Amino acid sequence: MTQHTHFAWALQTAARIRKMVRDDHRNILTLFRHYLSAPADSRHAIVEQILHQLAAHFQTEEELLYGDIRNRGDRQRRMVEEALLEHEEVKAMMWELQHAEADDDRALDEFFEDMMQTVQAHFVAEERDLLPAALEKATYHIPSPEGRGDL
Ligand SMILES: [Fe+2]
Ligand SMILES: [Fe+2]
Repeated sequence: MTQHTHFAWALQTAARIRKMVRDDHRNILTLFRHYLSAPADSRHAIVEQILHQLAAHFQTEEELLYGDIRNRGDRQRRMVEEALLEHEEVKAMMWELQHAEADDDRALDEFFEDMMQTVQAHFVAEERDLLPAALEKATYHIPSPEGRGDL
């Protein structure tokens, strides 16, 4: 692989990951809004979808995105640590939702709105801070084929 194609490949990969993360964010927030306006009998299925998509999304990010970014410097490592704490916070909410009693609709709605706000704030910070950092990586931390180190 030439230096140019290696470089282009890394940029394309970073751009693909960015798009995937952004698309996930849009889809998950759309599901949250559906839940809040859905009739009671379809809510359970929407909750299941949200839990499933959030779990898959967090796993993808933790495997593909955060690991690369955290190795790039102190600022990036702190951003990733912050993001992981936010994942833990949302995962705790997901656990609560899975174990919630289904008989108090109002409490569940309030919990759900809180969770949506927490998730949304995380997505906004991620798109503002982490996704640009993912693309920066592709522009300079790629060893050249001649072994000269970073571009
Ligand atoms: Fe995340
Ligand atoms: Fe995300």
